[in-house]
Amino acid sequence: MKEKLTAPELRRQKGGTPLVWLTAYDFPGAQLAEEADVDVILVGDSVGTTVLGYPSTIPVTMDDMVYHAKMVRRGAPHTMMIVDLPFLSYVTPEIALQNAGRLMQEALADGVKLEGGRSILPVIDALVQHEIPVVGHLGLTPQSIHRMGGYRVQARTADAIEALVDDAQVLADHGIIALVLEGIPDRVAQYVTESIPVPTIGIGAGHQTDGQVLVFHDCLGLSSSYPKFAKPFAHVRQAMLEGITQYRREVTERQFPDETHSYHVPDKEWQEFWHRRHPASSSSEPAR
Ligand code: KIV
Repeated sequence: MKEKLTAPELRRQKGGTPLVWLTAYDFPGAQLAEEADVDVILVGDSVGTTVLGYPSTIPVTMDDMVYHAKMVRRGAPHTMMIVDLPFLSYVTPEIALQNAGRLMQEALADGVKLEGGRSILPVIDALVQHEIPVVGHLGLTPQSIHRMGGYRVQARTADAIEALVDDAQVLADHGIIALVLEGIPDRVAQYVTESIPVPTIGIGAGHQTDGQVLVFHDCLGLSSSYPKFAKPFAHVRQAMLEGITQYRREVTERQFPDETHSYHVPDKEWQEFWHRRHPASSSSEPAR
């Protein structure tokens, strides 16, 4: 049986074979991710846009995260599962502890991820001190969409690069087990990767990070549009659409269900039923 990665093992993978992370939001998705042997499943607050139909991750609640993380845990009991703390769920160390505690105790998470740098250090310290493995997230942080003015590539000026590199160093010094780098230039991601002792996990951050993470729907071609950095490795949306269209056609043309997809009653039982209900009928072969 597959051995679940532990937090110390994850940290030791720094600089080794690139780590494969994938988001999942439900039982079947988690089963597939575990069967495909991904290293880490991230229950991302991207559930808001991919599954719940919101325009951003801002409306996602703690109850949403607990609900989806529980499904994922049941589908992937042997894979490390990191769960996002959603918008406004870590505004103080006390609130963060309470909410991260829910993810660890109710959903059996192996750790939590939260967005931000030095400004959230008190929160990170509280979680780490209370033995909750923490993954950081820098660069394009979707919970800051209003400040960023949209989903824009970050760290493109010398000042912004310096701030991000300093944030990464501080987070690493304060005990995070991994750092997600999203939507930043490849050179910046490589520099951060070479500067800190914890694994960096890139998404839209080039190929020099210690691992990659992709959103489940983007990875499988289930999304209706894709960011530049995403590569669909299958075309599941098209296959689903073709399946549903074919189903519709066969129902309207009475091709489905056919004999092989129907249940049958023995002739003798049917004849007996028929004659009981229609004793005056001369027909021995009831109409169907
Ligand atoms: O919510 C999410 O899926 C994420 C990944 C894109 C890193 O944070």
